[in-house]
Amino acid sequence: MQQSDRLSTSRSAAVPATADLIRLDTGSALRRVKSPPVNIPISLPLLPRWDELAAWVRQIDRSRVYTNRGPLCSELERRLESHFLGRQTQATSVCLTASGTSGLIASLLALDLEPGSLCVLPSWTSVATASAVVAAGLIPYLIDVDVDSWALDPARVDAELGQMPSRPCAVIPVSPFGAPVDVTVWREFSRNSGIAVVIDAAAGFDSVTPSDIPVVVSLYATEPLGVGEGGFVICTDPGFIERIREVTNFGFTSTRIVHHMGLNAKLSEYHAAIGLAQLQKWRDTRRTWLRVASTYRAAFAEYPDIQCLPGYGKSWTSSTAVFRFIDRSASEVAAKLDRYKVESRRWWQRGVNYHPAFADAACGDLTNTNRLADETLALPCYLTLRDTAIKSVVKAVTSVMASE
Ligand SMILES: Cc1ncc(COP(=O)(O)O)c(C=O)c1O
Repeated sequence: MQQSDRLSTSRSAAVPATADLIRLDTGSALRRVKSPPVNIPISLPLLPRWDELAAWVRQIDRSRVYTNRGPLCSELERRLESHFLGRQTQATSVCLTASGTSGLIASLLALDLEPGSLCVLPSWTSVATASAVVAAGLIPYLIDVDVDSWALDPARVDAELGQMPSRPCAVIPVSPFGAPVDVTVWREFSRNSGIAVVIDAAAGFDSVTPSDIPVVVSLYATEPLGVGEGGFVICTDPGFIERIREVTNFGFTSTRIVHHMGLNAKLSEYHAAIGLAQLQKWRDTRRTWLRVASTYRAAFAEYPDIQCLPGYGKSWTSSTAVFRFIDRSASEVAAKLDRYKVESRRWWQRGVNYHPAFADAACGDLTNTNRLADETLALPCYLTLRDTAIKSVVKAVTSVMASE
């Protein structure tokens, strides 16, 4: 398993210019900062402007098709298939969904799993993953993540199978904050165990590797490619994607007969219009996400007690900038950043098991989840975040770190 990155680029490129820091450059004495000069929110989504959408919306006006997998949805699915085909040789199929959560529910339903059986998921994820498991009629079983990759390790799932109350029917590995998930090891796990795998890569638009394992991506407004509310399921098995189309359309098959329960989880044509406009400028958008990520990465390079996920800001990027403050309390760091008017967030709070709705979920030992919950914090990350603002955030963080 790869180590969390130690951010080992040279610090000289990273040290903020004093002029950019204005009055934040007051050393570690927080009390000396009387009126913080910055007010930097954690997130500031940016969807296409009207002029970028107009041509697509006019098509909706003309066609008067507003949903039910209309022409814009079909066009966006086709373009997403070509986009991801660039990463591999095998053709891939995409089905758009109303959200990432409904894409997860639909994927579990499409697998025709035994109702009431166990579904393994990491405790270190969004409550959305666990909610999808319950909505699909399965029982969540929480497993701890690896402390360096922040993700489920198939070897650990394998090792814990014997102590679960019954054999699970499925596992949902989760991409932490957009990090790549190794599909090869999960395919092997699935082949050897006979347990189905669905990957939750909600924030993973930039890191998806299509395979015969279904991957679910969110298109929520703050995700790397956002449409407001939306998502998609991607898989190299066209038959599976056809099942997703049925499940997300009340279960209707081509004969209009429903054999298995379904949902209404279709994406509207208006959201598809936003997706088409977003996809057209993805290269520029990606470059900007990468600039934000690599600037943070370089800036924290010489702080061995500040870590990010392996490859973040190098081989992949995302719309959340989550860092681990080794042996520090993320809540305390957050409270001190507040005094600099820098917003931060414990993105997944204390993990799924912390929420009363899932407090009774069966689980193994959750030491790493609790550690990551204590030590990780998301810093401001959005497309219009300027370098000067990132430098102010970095200066605030390093001042807080130096203050004890
Ligand atoms: C890991 C994870 N899975 C699923 C979701 C749900 O995605 P959506 O908001 O599109 O339903 C989210 C986002 O909230 C998430 O972070």
